[in-house]
Parts: sequence; C-alpha cells; structure tokens
Amino acid sequence: MPRKSETAGRPKRSKASFVVVANRLPVDRSIGPDGREEWRTSPGGLVAALEPVLAQNSGTWVGWTGAPDDKQPPFEADDLRMVPVTLSADEVADYYEGFSNATLWPLYHDVTAPPVFERRWWDAYREVNRRFAAVAAEEAATGAIVWVQDYQLQLVPALLRAERPDLRIGFFNHIPFPGYELYSRLPWRTQVVEGLLGADLIGFQRRDDASNFLRAARVLTGATTRGSVIEVAPKDGAPGRHLRAAPFPISIDTAGLEALSRRPDVVGRANELRSELGNPSTVLLGVDRLDYTKGILHRLRAYGELLDDGELGPPGTVLIQVASPSRERVGEYQNLRDEVELIVGRVNGDHSSVGNPAIHYLHQSFPKEEMAALYLLADVMLVTPLRDGMNLVAKEYVACHHDLHGALVLSEFTGAADELRQAFLVNPYDIDGMKDAILAAVRATPVEQSRRMRPLRRRVIEADVHHWANTFLGALDMVTTS
Ligand code: G6P
Repeated sequence: MPRKSETAGRPKRSKASFVVVANRLPVDRSIGPDGREEWRTSPGGLVAALEPVLAQNSGTWVGWTGAPDDKQPPFEADDLRMVPVTLSADEVADYYEGFSNATLWPLYHDVTAPPVFERRWWDAYREVNRRFAAVAAEEAATGAIVWVQDYQLQLVPALLRAERPDLRIGFFNHIPFPGYELYSRLPWRTQVVEGLLGADLIGFQRRDDASNFLRAARVLTGATTRGSVIEVAPKDGAPGRHLRAAPFPISIDTAGLEALSRRPDVVGRANELRSELGNPSTVLLGVDRLDYTKGILHRLRAYGELLDDGELGPPGTVLIQVASPSRERVGEYQNLRDEVELIVGRVNGDHSSVGNPAIHYLHQSFPKEEMAALYLLADVMLVTPLRDGMNLVAKEYVACHHDLHGALVLSEFTGAADELRQAFLVNPYDIDGMKDAILAAVRATPVEQSRRMRPLRRRVIEADVHHWANTFLGALDMVTTS
C-alpha cells in the first residue's frame, strides 16, 4: 500500500504510549508516477510481523530509513508516526554492516560464518544504540510501553531505563541466542548482556534461546535466576530489579495471507506460472534472503545429486529458488552469491535442455501477491537453514495451503521446527538424509500430504502474529519490576 509522506504543516503530535524501536522503519521510499516521494511497506519478516500489531494500537515507530545520511524528519503513514534515526555512511559500515551483520549475525547463528571482532565497530554500535535510546526516550509518554526489536539494538533497554525509569521496556530477539561456549567469544559479552537486562521482559523465539541467555546472565553478571525470572542485584546506586526472559515464538498474519492466497488473481497467477513452466508434475520451491544461514548451498547440493542420480529432473520436476538480495556490501554475502550462482550454473549446465531449466534461480524480491502465487504453486517447499531464529517462510507456505495439498521439508535447526512437527524434518548437513526427505515429500500421496498439513495449519492458525504480540505484551504487563 503506498504511503505518502505528510510531514508539512502537521501539528506536533503528543507523545506516544506505545513505541516500537527497530533498526529499520517498516517502509521503503520510492518516487511515484507524479514524481512525488512515496513510502511503501517494505518486505521482510520483522515488518510483516509487527505491522498488524501497530495498526491496532496507533503508535510510533523509531527506526532507520535504510539510506546513509538520510535526514528525513518524522512523518505520518496511515495512523502510524514514523521517527527516522539518521545513520552516517561510516555508521552504516561499522554499526549495521560491521557489528550487527559481520559480528553478531554469524556469532548468534552458530558461527555458520566466522564472526569478525573489530573494536571500531563496537564503538559505532554503542553510539548508534545510544542515539536510538535517546530518540525513543524523547518520543515516549510517561509510563509508556517501549518494545525494542532485535540484535542490532541490544544496548537500548539499559540505556533507555537509565534515562526513563518510568517506562515499561520489552525486548524481542528475532534471531537465536547462542550457547555460552559460542557467546563467550564476544569480547563485549558482558556489556551486551547488561544492555539486555535493562528490559522488563526479554522475549526469545525458542526455549533453548531463553535458557542460553539465562546462563550467560548468571555467568557474566552474577544475576540469579529462578525459572524465567532474573534477579539483578543493586549496583552503582541503581536499585535491584526483577525481570523475565522467556520464549514467545513469532508468527505471521495467517488469516491475511490465507485470504490473499484465495484471491482469484493470485490463484490465476499460480496457474499461469505452472503453465509457463510447461505444466510439470512437481514444482519445488525455495524462498530465502540470500544469506549463508539459510542452507541454500546444502539444498542445491542435495537437489543436484537427486538429478545426477536420475531420481528427479526436468521437465517433470522443476525447482524455483528465490534468493532475495540482502546485505550486499558484506563480504560473506558476496562470497555466498558467487557460490550459489556457481552451483546453479553447474546443475543447469548438466541437467537443463532448451526451454527446460532444472533450476529457475531468481535473485530478486517480489511483491506479496507474487509470493502467495509461488507458495500456492509449490508442491514441495524446501526450508533448510543451518540455523534460523524462526523462519516465517515455512509458516507462510502452510498458511497458503488451505486445500491441504503440498509438503513442507523443514530444517530441524529453525525455530519453526519446534512448532511444525509434522513437516518432513531434516538435518541440512546430512545431504543423504535431505535427499531422502525431498524424495519422500515429492512422492507423498494426497492422503499423506493432508495428514501432515492439517496439524501444521492448526498451529499457524492458532498461534498467529496477533497471538504472539498479545502474549508478549500481556506478559510485559504482568512483570512486577520491584
Ligand atoms: C532478519 C532480522 C531482521 C532484519 C531482516 C532483514 O529477519 O532478524 O532484524 O531486519 O533479517 O535484514 P536487513 O539487514 O536487511 O534489515
């Protein structure tokens, strides 16, 4: 939905009683046909997850526009006040690409790439976290709820509490929290835990993430824990406090996505795509940000071997791999793109014929209507991350398959696997195991497909994004902070 910038002439708004603080604002800037600036909802799990929540509670969102040195003043989009935080080009390089995405991201995802520890990046991370906390402190009304999102902003809870002890502060970590053996490599491990301990409630995707954090808090800060409750002792004049760290698995707007997948234009598009593919009997689909945590290489290796073995192949079977561009200035992402494109080229070179590619590789992002058509079209969905906090793609696929057709191959190392137990679960490091699971999914009878899909759908219908937000905010309300 296009959203126009409407800054000019708008009276100053009163402070907000609900503030979301996230690295990114949930909008993308574009220039409309009339040459004017427009804001569109941007793709991505975080935005998809929080948009419905904010629509219900008219609130303020503090975040970065995604461009360096962008001095955009606050603006309104629908009922939501957007407050941009400006990042310089150096801060984008050091705080966002550096500390967030070349230090924390690989470390928190089980070191699927080597984390880089760079002192200058840490300084930038601290400085940018300070700025986000200052803007949130400025925007929040007395006693407001402030909900801080994700690993880019782990220092914000304590910084905000120091300035505004009246606020109720929630933090949600969308990515895994690693075991102590890995986490303890971080040179700034104590400062990061202390930053998080400024919250009243810290939410994680899985029980294991919460217990990893509880252990780190005990070891590094001397905090004591009982179940999910953490007791922080008085320190430097600050009083002792209680807070909680617990799992709140995130989800999707299930009803909204299902409605989209039932729209005649989306159904028509899925049919059109199948016919453009030459009406194969089986379409397999992968949908990921082009990220090394997603297990794209392992998946392509398994698929390539199935083609080599003559088990599957075009024109009867095709694989569509959507790999949306991501963090393209970070070295590991550039390497991954090269490796993915090498293997796609090899498999296609060996197994395609003119007009019948084995893999349709799309290094692009698509609007949600096209994504829903692709999900509908897919007979088998391949979600094979090496580590993933949740993975909303798996839930989106299930939400679209109201006719109970289709099969989900899902990595055990996703948060989603804790909930979607009836998927074809795989260890993506086990290529033979993955080949077996893919074949079993391709060969599943309609009865077998619906036997699995029915409980998967029950789960994503019951535990949708509204349930997630209500549960988290309800628990935040219950925390007694003395
Ligand atoms: C993951 C993170 C989000 C992030 C998204 C896209 O889902 O948990 O915080 O916004 O990836 O990554 P980007 O770096 O483009 O914001």
